[in-house]
Formats: sequence, C-alpha cells, structure tokens
Amino acid sequence: MKGIGVLLSGGGTNLQAIIDTIEHGNIAADINLVLSDRPDAYGLIRAEKRGIPAYCINRKKFKDAGSFNEAILEKLTAHHVEYIVLAGYLSILSPKLVECYRNKIINIHPSLIPAFCGKGYYGDKVHQAVLDYGVKLTGATVHFVDEGTDTGPIIFQKAVEVLPDDTVETLSRRVLAVEHELLPKAVALLVQDRLKVSGRKVILKSSGMMSNS
Ligand code: GRF
Repeated sequence: MKGIGVLLSGGGTNLQAIIDTIEHGNIAADINLVLSDRPDAYGLIRAEKRGIPAYCINRKKFKDAGSFNEAILEKLTAHHVEYIVLAGYLSILSPKLVECYRNKIINIHPSLIPAFCGKGYYGDKVHQAVLDYGVKLTGATVHFVDEGTDTGPIIFQKAVEVLPDDTVETLSRRVLAVEHELLPKAVALLVQDRLKVSGRKVILKSSGMMSNS
C-alpha cells in the first residue's frame, strides 16, 4: 500500500476527511505518519485515535528552518512516506524537501488562488481579507506545492458565495466543507499517479492510461 504523510498545525478536520475517505475504501493508500509543527494541534489526537503514528516536530525548538525541515524529512523517510498532504500546515517547506518530493506534495488553501494567498494569508486571515475586500465569491483550492507560497499548479478549485451577512466564522465554515470535499478527491487521484503536471497545468489522466504516460 502507498504511504501518505499528513502535515498539519491545527484542528485537523481536513485530516479527518482523508481518514474517513480511506476508511470508506475510496483512497488506495494508508496514512503512515502525521506530523505537526506545534504541540497543541488537535490533529495529532485525531491521528492517535486511529492508531496512526503522530509526532510533533516543534518548529520553535529548532535554530533555523533548515534543521527543522531536516528533522521532518528524516521522519518522512523513516515512515516510508511517498506522498505529502499539507492539511492546514503553517510552516514553509524547505526547497530541499520540495525537491525530494517533487509533484508529490499537495496543499489545501481556503480561497480561490491566485486571490487571497501567499505570504501572510493563512487561516482566518484569508477569510477576513475576503470580507474586507468585498468580493462576492471565494472558495477553496487544492494545488501542488512548489518552492513558492501557494504558487504551485492547481488541481481543484470550487467557489463559495460570500453572503451579505457573512462573518469570518460563517464563511470559513462553508469554505471548510468544500475543502473536505476537494482534498480527499485530490489525494485519491494523487496516490494513483493520475495527476500529471504539465507546466502550470494539471492534467487528469484517465485510469486506463496510468502506467506509461
Ligand atoms: C483550513 O481552512 C485550511 O485550508 C487552512 O487552515 C484550515 C485548517 O483546518 N490552511 P483543519 O486543521 O484541517 O481543520
């Protein structure tokens, strides 16, 4: 079975959506490892409840980003992780880690990239910026991870309407529901090697042409 590593920083509802989809038999892989960059992430507990190896690699305990990412890479290797899912993960991956897992790392972002993304746009800040700007549509994006912040090729996007009375709380709840739909779908295709990156585009390979294209 193929091995996924999930990196997170918070509540882990996206992790839960992946776990549930695996348990329903709709993702042909196991989660070999869950890593958090902070100790209080509830996602670690969710993993432990399902018997998934879960560790905190506390970013604050490392002198620099290089040594922090080395520790992550060591754990990923030790647990035979082939694909990485960033599910609400707030640290930046080092270029070396991105290179080691080229086109095998995906991220979920709570807006329609390239709007409201990049440095400083994370968590509720994204939804606050959406409300402040007054856009009528936002949404969720699943994309491959490259060396930039939220810049990799886009796999799936789905729009969510911004309602006149929305608050960060109401809007984030609706966007999160869409994240829970898109991320497991992308993971299922990723582990079947059905997502082909061609420049900035991601092409969905049909299941019949998986082996040699
Ligand atoms: C999600 O909105 C994700 O897109 C963002 O942080 C939130 C994490 O949610 N980056 P959870 O930890 O999966 O519940």
